[in-house]
Amino acid sequence: MSDTVSGPLTSESIAGAAYVVAALLFILSLAGLSRHEKARAGVIYGITGMVIALAATVWLTVQGAWGTGHALTGLALLLAAVLVGGAIGLWRARVVEMTGMPELIALLHSFVGLAAVLVGWNGHLEAPALSAELMAVHHAEVFIGVFIGAVTFTGSIVAFLKLSARMKSSPLMLPGKNAINLGALAAFVALTVWYVNDSQLWLLVVVTLLALGLGWHLVASIGGGDMPVVVSMLNSYSGWAAAAAGFLLNNDLLIITGALVGSSGAYLSYIMCKAMNRSFISVIAGGFGIAAPTAGDVDHGEHREITAQATAEMLSNASSVVITPGYGMAVAQAQYPVAELAHQLRERGVNVRFGIHPVAGRLPGHMNVLLAEAKVPYDIVLEMDEINDDLGGTSVVLVIGANDTVNPAAAEDPSSPIAGMPVLRVWEADNVIVFKRSMAAGYAGVQNPLFYRDNSQMLFGDAKQRVEDILRAF
Ligand code: TAP
Repeated sequence: MSDTVSGPLTSESIAGAAYVVAALLFILSLAGLSRHEKARAGVIYGITGMVIALAATVWLTVQGAWGTGHALTGLALLLAAVLVGGAIGLWRARVVEMTGMPELIALLHSFVGLAAVLVGWNGHLEAPALSAELMAVHHAEVFIGVFIGAVTFTGSIVAFLKLSARMKSSPLMLPGKNAINLGALAAFVALTVWYVNDSQLWLLVVVTLLALGLGWHLVASIGGGDMPVVVSMLNSYSGWAAAAAGFLLNNDLLIITGALVGSSGAYLSYIMCKAMNRSFISVIAGGFGIAAPTAGDVDHGEHREITAQATAEMLSNASSVVITPGYGMAVAQAQYPVAELAHQLRERGVNVRFGIHPVAGRLPGHMNVLLAEAKVPYDIVLEMDEINDDLGGTSVVLVIGANDTVNPAAAEDPSSPIAGMPVLRVWEADNVIVFKRSMAAGYAGVQNPLFYRDNSQMLFGDAKQRVEDILRAF
């Protein structure tokens, strides 16, 4: 029997066991978060895993420093970092509006990127004593970690600036932008080989600057309409950056967690590309989200308006109703009266269901979260593919603050900037009522011919107030 099995427990082995438990809890957390019913348990698994991971890290740090005279300083620094970081995180999480989540997430990704860059630099400045072969691996880890981290850092900052409207969301169209990206990648590969053979500091400086520039350019070249994919793509990058840092720090938990985040982010990007009928390459190449050159000039005819009173009457006579919420429902915080409306209609025997587009709102699952918050039963909340074929036989569709996700131009106009993106075919219903405040375009800046259809009527005003008006009229 080897010493490792029969030997005494070391602080490393105890922390290692704690990391394995934490990693398992993170996997359970991801599994839980993929289903509404288990999401709460998923969050609890995640929190527990993080507490265990933090406790193990504190323990390891204090144990390692014990006897060196630096234990107390180490512990004090660690606690100060956890307290300051935790307090800022708690404050931001409490005040952030649901509609501001994507930009907060983008900002958080930038911290992961920055951390990976700092860990990489530290790996160069404080290189461990290793054999020549292992040193080459160490240098490759440093270089790749710094590169991924720096791309994630500036890319996430640009995503944050675009999502929070501090920077124009239209794509930056530099001449030869694909050549710039490919050239930067080729330079990175060449520099990596050079650095592994001859680890000079200036090479690390060059790759850091190159990656900072590439991250900025990569995301600046992507149009507003593709931002959902970009956010999940950066999520994936931040995972790989964390995994790279894990290799350098020799921390298994960071490697496992980074790989989980990296692969789930990549898979989410794939699902979103599929939902928007876009290839991943075309998203990276940019261009989507530029306003259609003629979209504003097309004459779609006259739109019709309806009152809340008349809508209430129409709903009273309906046999089936589908509600398709969008970003406007989140802005108006209309989910509570909408849930009440669904409840009252169901009490009257109307078949009520919700149709959720995969990119409705501003972050994945945005509408599902809001409806769950308002206690709408899960079994009447259907995905776009589950409801689309039923819309033809539906008496009334209520489009509550949605626009791009119900735009017929995506299905019917090949010249539309959103052509090919699957949408909820609400126009096939007998009647469509669109709740919004004006005739303004949606996120992609594209006009919506739905508003001018013979079976469509506009109910103008704040979505929450209009739904409350309908409830009063019942
Ligand atoms: P949008 O196309 O963004 O349209 C939302 C509509 O809500 C607007 O036309 C706006 O019209 C209306 N609105 C705003 N405030 C309102 C209020 N208080 N009351 C009533 N209406 C209000 O919405 P969507 O259909 O959900 O589509 C989402 C878009 O965002 C897609 O283009 C998607 O690609 C993009 N996007 C999605 C994500 C994710 S991951 N979901 C992330 C970033 C971007 P008025 O101003 O006239 O009221």
